[in-house]
Amino acid sequence: MAALSLVLLAAPASAEDSEPEKLINALNNLFGAHAKMRAAHTKGICIKGNFTPTPEAASLSKAPQFAAPVQLIGRFSLGGGNPMASDSQKDNVRGIAMHFQLPDGSNSDLLLISAPIFAAKTPEDFLALLTAVASKDKDKIGAYFKEHPESTRQGAWLKARPTPASYATADYFGVHTFYLTNAKGERQAVKWKAEPVGGFVGLSDKDAEAKGTDFYAKELNDKFAKGPVAFNLYAVLGQPGDQDDDPTAEWPADRKSVKVGTISFSGLEPAATCDEGIFDPNVVADGIEPSPNDKILPMRSLDYAVSFGRRTQ
Ligand code: HEM
Repeated sequence: MAALSLVLLAAPASAEDSEPEKLINALNNLFGAHAKMRAAHTKGICIKGNFTPTPEAASLSKAPQFAAPVQLIGRFSLGGGNPMASDSQKDNVRGIAMHFQLPDGSNSDLLLISAPIFAAKTPEDFLALLTAVASKDKDKIGAYFKEHPESTRQGAWLKARPTPASYATADYFGVHTFYLTNAKGERQAVKWKAEPVGGFVGLSDKDAEAKGTDFYAKELNDKFAKGPVAFNLYAVLGQPGDQDDDPTAEWPADRKSVKVGTISFSGLEPAATCDEGIFDPNVVADGIEPSPNDKILPMRSLDYAVSFGRRTQ
C-alpha cells in the first residue's frame, strides 16, 4: 500500500498558522503527512550505546559528557518526510540524533547530518524552498535556486560523493556553530563532526542501485552482531571572524579539530524509546551554547515540537 501512505493529509496553511506550523505543513505537503510519524527524518532506526570523552574534551567544555562516559540513546535516519525513502538515494542526507544521558537524569542532545551544510540559511528560505519543490513547477523551482544559490550547495556536495554504504560508514556534521565554555570560563566557537572509526565507505552508483531501497537496517543489525559501531567525535575550532550565522556555509578547510570522544553504538533499541520524546539541538548541557546568530537553529525546537505534537496526537 505504498501509494496510499503517500496520500497528502496535510491541513492547508491558513493565515493564522504560526511559522513552525507553516514549515511542518510545507513538509507534509511535499512528503505526505504520515500518522504517528515524524514530519522529517521519518525513516529511521533507534539505537543505544555510550560516549567516552577524551582527556582534551574537558579543556573545551564543562558539559558533564566531556568529563566522564555517559550512556547514549540514538537514532539513525534518512532526511525528508518519506517513510519509504530509499537507502540508496545519493542526494539525501543521513542523520544521527543522540541523547547524551547525563548523571542528573537530563539529556544533552546532538543532531548531525551527512553533509557539512544545510539547504537554507533562514526558516523563511526553507519554507520557500519546500513550497517551490512541492509545486513541481520547474519555473518556480528554478527561480528559487536562482535567487538562493546557497541552497544548491548541499545537493551538490552530496552528489559529488558516493552513497554511504551504511549508516555506520558515513561521516556526519552538526552544521551550526555552537559555543563551548570550559571550567575557566573560556569560550570557543566549534562545529561538530563525527567520523566512522573505520573511515568513510561508499557505494558506486551501480552498486547502490543494486542494493535497492531497504538495506541499511539489516546491514546495521549484521554489524551489531559482530560488535559495536563507533565514530570519533571532533570539535572543529572556529577562528575570530568565522561565520556563526549561516548553516549553508562551511568554515575554511584548514580549521583545526580536537577529538572530544568516541561514540560507540552497541545495538538496536525499541523505536518507542526514540519516539517518546524529541531530539532537540537546543537541549544542551551547561558548557554548550547554540549560536545566538543562527536563524535556523532556534526555529528547529519550535518546528520539532509541532511535529512531535502531531505524531503523538
Ligand atoms: C528550519 C529547518 C529545519 C526544519 C523545519 C526541520 C524539521 C525537522 C523535523 C520536523 C524533524 C522531526 C522532529 C520530530 O518529530 O521529532 C526533524 C528531525 C531531524 N532533523 Fe531537522 N529540520 C531543520 C533543520 C535541520 C538541520 C539544520 C539539521 C542538521 C543537523 C537537521 C537534522 C535533523 C535530524 C538528524 C533529525 C532526526 C531526529 C530524530 O531522529 O528524531 N535538521 N527535522
